[in-house]
Amino acid sequence: MGSLRALLCLLSLYSGAAAPSCPRNVNISGGSFTLSRGWAPGSVLVYSCPPGRYPVPASRLCLSSGRWQTPRAPPLAKAVCKPVRCPAPVSFENGLYTPRLGSHPVGGNLSFECEDGFVLRGSPVRRCRPNGAWDGETAVCDNGAGHCPNPGEPVGSVRTGSRFGLGDKVRYHCSSSNLVLTGSAERECQGSGAWSGAEPTCRQPYSYDFPEDVAPALGASLSHLLGSTNPTQKKKESLGRKIQIQRSGHLNLYLLLDASQSVKEEDFHVFRNCATLMVDRIFSFEINVSVAIITFASKPKVITSVLDDNSRDVAEVLHSLDNLRYRDHENGTGTNIYEALHSVYIMMNNQMQRLGMGTAAWQDIRHAVILLTDGKSNTGGSPKRAVDDIREVLNISPKRADYLDIYAIGVGKLEVDWRELNELASKKDGERHAFILQDPPALRQVFEHMLDVSQLVDTICGVGNVSANASAQERTPWHVTIKPKSRETCRGSLVSDQWVLTAAHCFRHADQDRSLWRVTVGDPSSRLGKDLGIEQVVIPDGFDIGAKRPQGIREFYGDDIALLKLAEPVKMSTHARPICLPCTAGANLALRRPPGSTCRDHESELLKLVRVPAHFVALNGDTLNVNLKTGTEREKCISAVSQDKTSFPNLTNVTEVVTDQFLCSGMENEDHPCRGESGGAVFLERRFRFFQVGLVSWGLYNPCGSSGGNARKEAPRGKVPPPRDFHISLFRLQPWLRQHLAGVLHFLPL
Ligand SMILES: *[C@@H]1O[C@H](CO)[C@@H](O)[C@H](O)[C@H]1NC(C)=O
Ligand SMILES: *[C@@H]1O[C@H](CO)[C@@H](O)[C@H](O)[C@H]1NC(C)=O
Ligand SMILES: *[C@@H]1O[C@H](CO)[C@@H](O)[C@H](O)[C@H]1NC(C)=O
Ligand SMILES: *[C@@H]1O[C@H](CO)[C@@H](O)[C@H](O)[C@H]1NC(C)=O
Ligand SMILES: *[C@@H]1O[C@H](CO)[C@@H](O)[C@H](O)[C@H]1NC(C)=O
Ligand SMILES: *[C@@H]1O[C@H](CO)[C@@H](O)[C@H](O)[C@H]1NC(C)=O
Ligand SMILES: *[C@@H]1O[C@H](CO)[C@@H](O)[C@H](O)[C@H]1NC(C)=O
Ligand SMILES: *[C@@H]1O[C@H](CO)[C@@H](O)[C@H](O)[C@H]1NC(C)=O
Ligand SMILES: [Mg+2]
Repeated sequence: MGSLRALLCLLSLYSGAAAPSCPRNVNISGGSFTLSRGWAPGSVLVYSCPPGRYPVPASRLCLSSGRWQTPRAPPLAKAVCKPVRCPAPVSFENGLYTPRLGSHPVGGNLSFECEDGFVLRGSPVRRCRPNGAWDGETAVCDNGAGHCPNPGEPVGSVRTGSRFGLGDKVRYHCSSSNLVLTGSAERECQGSGAWSGAEPTCRQPYSYDFPEDVAPALGASLSHLLGSTNPTQKKKESLGRKIQIQRSGHLNLYLLLDASQSVKEEDFHVFRNCATLMVDRIFSFEINVSVAIITFASKPKVITSVLDDNSRDVAEVLHSLDNLRYRDHENGTGTNIYEALHSVYIMMNNQMQRLGMGTAAWQDIRHAVILLTDGKSNTGGSPKRAVDDIREVLNISPKRADYLDIYAIGVGKLEVDWRELNELASKKDGERHAFILQDPPALRQVFEHMLDVSQLVDTICGVGNVSANASAQERTPWHVTIKPKSRETCRGSLVSDQWVLTAAHCFRHADQDRSLWRVTVGDPSSRLGKDLGIEQVVIPDGFDIGAKRPQGIREFYGDDIALLKLAEPVKMSTHARPICLPCTAGANLALRRPPGSTCRDHESELLKLVRVPAHFVALNGDTLNVNLKTGTEREKCISAVSQDKTSFPNLTNVTEVVTDQFLCSGMENEDHPCRGESGGAVFLERRFRFFQVGLVSWGLYNPCGSSGGNARKEAPRGKVPPPRDFHISLFRLQPWLRQHLAGVLHFLPL
């Protein structure tokens, strides 16, 4: 025993002495850094600076010799944060710009004016943003004389070619060798009156993109996919480039993850997390998607193919992503983007053989290739050949340009080669396909920006806006406020465009003149809110608070549920949209379960944990958290009722009060609903969609006190009875819901 410990000590001392570590004098003034593996060899040091500044150098690698390797800089050059600058125009045809500086500071403005006879197109004033890019659009002074409009000179670029007739070509380069050109270096005036390719941008090599820049661009191909079959949507509107959710069309999504040596293992994990996020979000649209996953270094490895049935199943695809390994490529760590794309081509070709070249089934599929990479291809030759093969098999012509998009995206603190990234990406007029994002949260934001359900007239259920900037009502658009004429108000949830689910007890003292009752739908604090009358109130016959008074139970909330039929249907918007009710066909789609699933399946999927994290909406619109208890945890949760001697004297059996109709929460550090929050939905999020499993009914503690009001008080510790909250379970009330919503929602078998 003693000698073993001594041996272990010796070993650790020994290995400590043998493994060199890199020196620690690597501070950056005004910035910070992270280390992937401490000071040990193999560790990657990444610098970061506050917005508006960038680190030089960007990173260092600890070598096995115990020395730092620093790309493009002396090994121990002191790291500094330098101010970001935007490039200056070189010239401006047919007009004037001010001020005239060599480069511009963040926040600086650039103004453009045209000479007489020319009209300004684009932005007259542009502002230098913290990533070193100008906001707005290229300013051009045009007299409309050409077949194509004057393509202008994007800031920082120099154009050669000044004829804009059919077939004329213009070429671009950047004004300084420090800038990198992205977009098309050459453009041709086409018959359609548009220039081929994408507008070039000369950018600083260190610049990255903001989510709001990427979202419209990434959304473009998907919105073509999702929006183009919508007959009410004109071509022009689809240029809004946000996804219009539609349940039609088929997308093949090919995710290619770079696992080469230049992309370090940490970066590869960032790629994997991003791919997971994309898959999760894409499948939440209820469209038909097949996802192929390919990792590559010197050789590609096909993890899932669009030919597999599994490629349409979100759970299978996510499972494959979970099991991706960087180490799969340990024996060939080069970067062969050609072969990676070639494997996509092979897959497409096989699918075409299977479906038949001339069939609609094949021709209607749209294809999006997303390469997560640093763009540094070093073996296998030019990826361009593979792209040409892909275009040929998909028969891409100007008319079919919408059917293929190739995006090259760098995510994280990678050292990205902008030139290569740009070469790989598709180039389309008015669109961008090459991006660098700072981190996975930025990518998540991209997806939230990309989505736009404002035009969606369909009553697709459970779509809330999970963007950080969304308003409370946008996050929970099903949430409504119910106002009987006087007394306390209640909350409720839209379950279709004309039906609201709430608690029956809200109406127990209410004025019998129902013509005075109102339901506020949408955002009550803006013109987007609307008060609607109630045409019909349905309350179960069994609901009777006094039913168990003879047994010493002062208040009994069995069957505390009500349905309100609104006087008119609600117009769907980002502020008013139904939540998904479990055991319905809509919820089944949203859960992405196979057809043929049952109500029991939904219950076991949604309430499978002992403590199920769930939410309700507070009086002020905030979303608060509870844990719904199941199994033995539920028994513990409900047992607290027997300690409430005031409401339940002589109670010997808690299930007399808390019947199996109730879900229980409030045992740990959970939020407790206030009185006026009764009737509101108790809901869960699954894969960006929302499902109501219960509704707020009653509790042993009111955090808002008897006076009501917005301030919530924490339940005091050791309080008797302990705080508990009870919510009507929609699974237990199925027969009643089915009876009254039969023609409104499509229910699954029990
Ligand atoms: C680096 O900065 C940290 C915190 O600012 C400081 O504690 C440390 O002594 C510095 N190290 C060197 C080698 O300058
Ligand atoms: C640029 O213009 C904006 C808006 O007009 C203004 O708020 C800002 O102060 C200007 N910046 C500079 C550096 O003049
Ligand atoms: C989606 O795919 C399924 C099965 O392949 C098919 O039945 C359905 O019609 C497709 N939906 C659309 C909108 O293409
Ligand atoms: C790499 O090569 C070694 C030795 O040939 C082999 O044992 C290992 O399994 C290979 N790794 C992979 C991921 O193929
Ligand atoms: C959210 O709003 C803040 C301030 O209004 C803004 O700076 C930020 O870019 C916005 N973020 C998103 C994702 O819209
Ligand atoms: C969510 O809100 C953000 C910010 O208000 C908006 O840009 C985005 O389009 C919204 N997304 C959806 C799905 O409505
Ligand atoms: C409870 O029990 C006490 C004594 O056993 C009895 O006096 C009282 O009436 C009971 N209360 C009710 C509501 O049954
Ligand atoms: C408690 O009451 C429930 C419902 O009334 C009943 O089913 C159960 O058998 C009772 N349990 C005991 C221990 O009496
Ligand atoms: Mg590489």
